[in-house]
Order: sequence, then C-alpha cells, then structure tokens
Amino acid sequence: MYKRIKSIIWVGVMFSLLLFAMACNSDSPQSTFDPHGPIAELQKNLFMFTFWIAVVVFIIVEGGIIYLTFKYRKKDDNLPVQTHGNLKLEITWTIIPAIIVVIIAIPTVIAIWETQVMPEEEDSLVIEAVGHQWWFEFKYPTEEIVTANELHLPEDKDIIVKIGSQDVLHSFWIPKIAGKVDMVPNHQNQLYIKADEPGLYYGQCAEFCGIVHAMMRFRVIVHTQEDYQNWLDEMRTPPAKLTSGSDEDEGRKLFVGNCSMCHTYDSYKKGAYTKEVTSQYNRWEEWKNDKENSAIVSAPNLTHFGNRITLAAGIKENNLENLIKWIENPDEIKIGTRMKNHASIYRDGNELSNEQINQIAKYLLSLKPSQESSATYNK
Ligand code: CUA
Repeated sequence: MYKRIKSIIWVGVMFSLLLFAMACNSDSPQSTFDPHGPIAELQKNLFMFTFWIAVVVFIIVEGGIIYLTFKYRKKDDNLPVQTHGNLKLEITWTIIPAIIVVIIAIPTVIAIWETQVMPEEEDSLVIEAVGHQWWFEFKYPTEEIVTANELHLPEDKDIIVKIGSQDVLHSFWIPKIAGKVDMVPNHQNQLYIKADEPGLYYGQCAEFCGIVHAMMRFRVIVHTQEDYQNWLDEMRTPPAKLTSGSDEDEGRKLFVGNCSMCHTYDSYKKGAYTKEVTSQYNRWEEWKNDKENSAIVSAPNLTHFGNRITLAAGIKENNLENLIKWIENPDEIKIGTRMKNHASIYRDGNELSNEQINQIAKYLLSLKPSQESSATYNK
C-alpha cells in the first residue's frame, strides 16, 4: 500500500513538473512569457514580481513545516508542554502578510492604471473587434476597412480595440501583445494595445462560446508603419479582371449566385464600409428572426481572401486543397458552423459538383489586390 502511494505521488510530481515546463516554454506561439508589446511586457513583469514573492513565501512556509515536523516528531509517549496563544507570534504573522499584500498592490494598481486608461482617440488607431460564433470580424472605422480573422496592425502605435459581440460571450486575446478582454453582446469593452515588433502573432477566443470555442482563433500581422500603409492601399485596390471562361471566372459566377448573400467580397470599393456594416447587421437580424430556416447569416468578409494566411478562423493553412475540403464539408474541419447549417448548397438537391467547388476555391484564392491597378480609393 505504502509503495503504491509513493509511486502515485512520484507520477504526480513528474506530471506537474512536465506541465510546468510546457507552460513556461516561451517559444510557443501563445506564450505570455515572450511579450512583444509594452502592455504584455507590463503584465508579464507584474506576474513575475508576484510569482517570485510567492516562491519566497512558499519556501519559508514549507521549509518551516518540514523542519518543525522532523524536529518535534513524536519521540516517546510523553505529552509535550501544552501552550495556548502567543501574542508576539500572532501579531508577526498578521503583519507580515499585510505588508506583502501592500508590496504587491502598489505595482498592480499602477499596471491597472496604465492599461485601463485609454490613450487619446485622435492620436490612436481605433479598431472594432466583433465576436461571432466562431470567427472574428475586424473593422477600421476611420480607414473604412473591414476584414475577418486576420488583424493587421502598425508597429509602435497606440491602438484602442473596441470590443463587442454579435451573439454570445467571447473573449479577445493576443497572448504576446496584451491580456484578454471579454466580448459581450450589447456592451462595448475597450482594450489598449501596442505592438513593438513586426511579425505574425496568434489570437484566440478565451471564453467558452459554444461547440467550437477552441477553434475560434485569429492571426495578427504587425507591420512596419510603411507596410501598414501599403496594406491599407491594397485593401482599396480591386483584384485583377478574370479571363472569361476561366475556372476562376466560372467560380465567380457560382460564388455570386450561392455565397455572396452572406460573404461580401468587394469591400475595396468606395463606400463599401458603411454598406458592409449595414449588411452584416441585416444578415444577423434575418437569422435571429428564423434561426431554423434562415438562408442567410452574418459571415466573414472575404475581400482579398487570396491574401489570407489561414481559413476557418485560423484553423487551416489557406491553400487550394484545404479550401476545397472546407467548402465540401465545413463540419469535417470545424463542426457546427452556421455556413453548413444555412447555406443552400448543403441542402439536398442543391449540392455543388466537385468541379464547381474547385472553381469556387480557385476564384476565392484569386481574390488579391491586382498588381497592375494602383489604389483607386481616394478620399
Ligand atoms: Cu468565441 Cu470562445
């Protein structure tokens, strides 16, 4: 029996150490131990500060317990001297924790202040992030750009993310750039973020929001200031004209006929922003009114989809093979999508042929800002 308990404890300790080592690996894409922005840095430093104080307390308390256990273990049948109450000790172990709490509270309050007080909106980039089951919508109201599942940010710029949700509770989280904030329907939260190094980062919904919560992800692309301007220009540049009769052009016709009620694909046009905001609202209202039979529902904007790194909200690499699989049967990749439940192409008698799916996929991948045409969007 004793041997068995010993081996259980041993396995438990090893397993905990393994988990601990995995959690602290700062190379993993969602590790908060490798911050890439001042907010994440501040949060990490606060955590480490509190962590080391806790380590010292742990060592002193546990060390004391182990020391006293051995020093005063039962040696004979005589009762030790019985005492009750020790004023000095009582006061000491009340005051010490109080001092520790104050020491931790000071940097905590400073950090709360620094992260919760928003910078001036005029000097910042304001972005709206909207949670949907199970994808992210990103709107840039001043720039009049709307996109999905991939958030583009300029480096070294104060950014205010206005956070909401269209359906249920979600949570917006870019581990390497800033802590998480809940996405609440009918209520706007704000998050101040700043990224100080160009690169690709991972984002994740961090609040249980339904069957595929774990597959609700996004990517963050941090650009240099100049590249960010290029990205804005590109988002306002139409894709190249398709050759009539090509697979892509056939795909375009199929897409317009079957998918474009929910997925906007031409937000590079002037005035498209307001139109998309209204459309997304109307799609949502329509769906809410008849959740069983509605043929439309709010859906990711697919403008310049060919430039996206991932599909299905950060789940699969965006390439022809994966895209075909996704259109064929979204449930195989991500169960429960509203697309599968509502798009007419998944209803009996309405299915697309393999060739048609292939054409739609080729069309979607062709959606990229054209090299030839310069930016046509000018305010
Ligand atoms: Cu959205 Cu979890």
